[in-house]
Amino acid sequence: MTFHVLTLFPDMIKEVAGTSILGRALLNGSISLDVINIRDFSTKGSKRVDGYPYGGGAGMVMEAEPVFNAVELAKSRAGENAKVVYLTPAAPVLNQLKVEELSKSDDLILLCGHYEGIDDRVLEEVVDENISIGDYVLTGGELGALVVIDAVSRYVPGVLHNSESSDVESLKDNLLEYPQYTRPEVWHGQAVPQVLLTGDHAKIEAFRHEQSLERTRQRRPDLLEKSHRVNVVWFGSEELEATAVALKEKFSLYGEIFNYNRSKLKNAKKRFGSSDFVVFITDEPDKAETALIKLSAHGSKAVAITPCVSEPDSSFFEEKGFEVIKRCCLEVMKDQKGCEETIFEIKKMIEQA
Ligand SMILES: C[S@@+](CC[C@H](N)C(=O)[O-])C[C@H]1O[C@@H](n2cnc3c(N)ncnc32)[C@H](O)[C@@H]1O
Repeated sequence: MTFHVLTLFPDMIKEVAGTSILGRALLNGSISLDVINIRDFSTKGSKRVDGYPYGGGAGMVMEAEPVFNAVELAKSRAGENAKVVYLTPAAPVLNQLKVEELSKSDDLILLCGHYEGIDDRVLEEVVDENISIGDYVLTGGELGALVVIDAVSRYVPGVLHNSESSDVESLKDNLLEYPQYTRPEVWHGQAVPQVLLTGDHAKIEAFRHEQSLERTRQRRPDLLEKSHRVNVVWFGSEELEATAVALKEKFSLYGEIFNYNRSKLKNAKKRFGSSDFVVFITDEPDKAETALIKLSAHGSKAVAITPCVSEPDSSFFEEKGFEVIKRCCLEVMKDQKGCEETIFEIKKMIEQA
């Protein structure tokens, strides 16, 4: 992936991006950096690119023409369709889902403002998306661009080593990560929680989930409101199990997988609640209705994945109390690209749900 950064302070970008994990990724070629100095497009001998604001007011405004020409150069390298992102406090705040979305492009053009910002006419003409990195005002967009580069790069294959990459981190499931500990076992009189020393994975996972919930409750209750437990319910041929497991891992750390081929599940009453999000997957839709007979829900949102040929009829699930927000073709989910795109679309729906 290539990041094209348009800035008045190229060294600031090169210096930070050349350090640590990003520096290594630049060296091994997983990511590339194309830093364009907007000053090189100054229309004045003085190399200045700013002017006084029309209508008066404090500070200077960056002129349209140098910015336009810098974007043109970036596009000539990145391709006409590359997205132009302007870093600005006057925008929706970046979050993990947006980071994941941005990581799907091959090129990203990041435009950094300075002074009082940029002449709005050029922004109207060239910018595809405005992104803020937080509800505060910085002196320039460079730190914002670096935040985007850093967060997006973590999704680019080859940037993180296995030991650095983690599916278990803050914001998966809209929860903050549980506390982490390392040696020594006792530090300043504080012992690490006993359960972490037991080697009992089920207990450890339950403990960590509880800690994640508690931390999110205390520090980010707004996230908790948007947090859904994602469960995968599957029924049908054995080969479907691998798809069900992969789906659950992509969606959620703490959700559960329910295999409705098991008679124990078929015969027991199960009711999902409004904080549950359920992904149904079956390759035998005709028989699934009988297998899921004891399953019900109270306002749970759901996605149903069935073979393309089956009738797109959601009434079966809706009668059970689910709100089906999407129906997908099983065949599409078996294709890697189709599956990734669909999962991302569903993640967005879950966030908005
Ligand atoms: C001093 S700010 C200009 C602020 C502008 N007058 C306003 O109120 O929207 C200069 C530049 O810093 C960048 N910037 C400032 N705060 C930012 C934020 N929270 N996120 C992303 N970029 C930011 C933008 O590129 C902006 O053009």
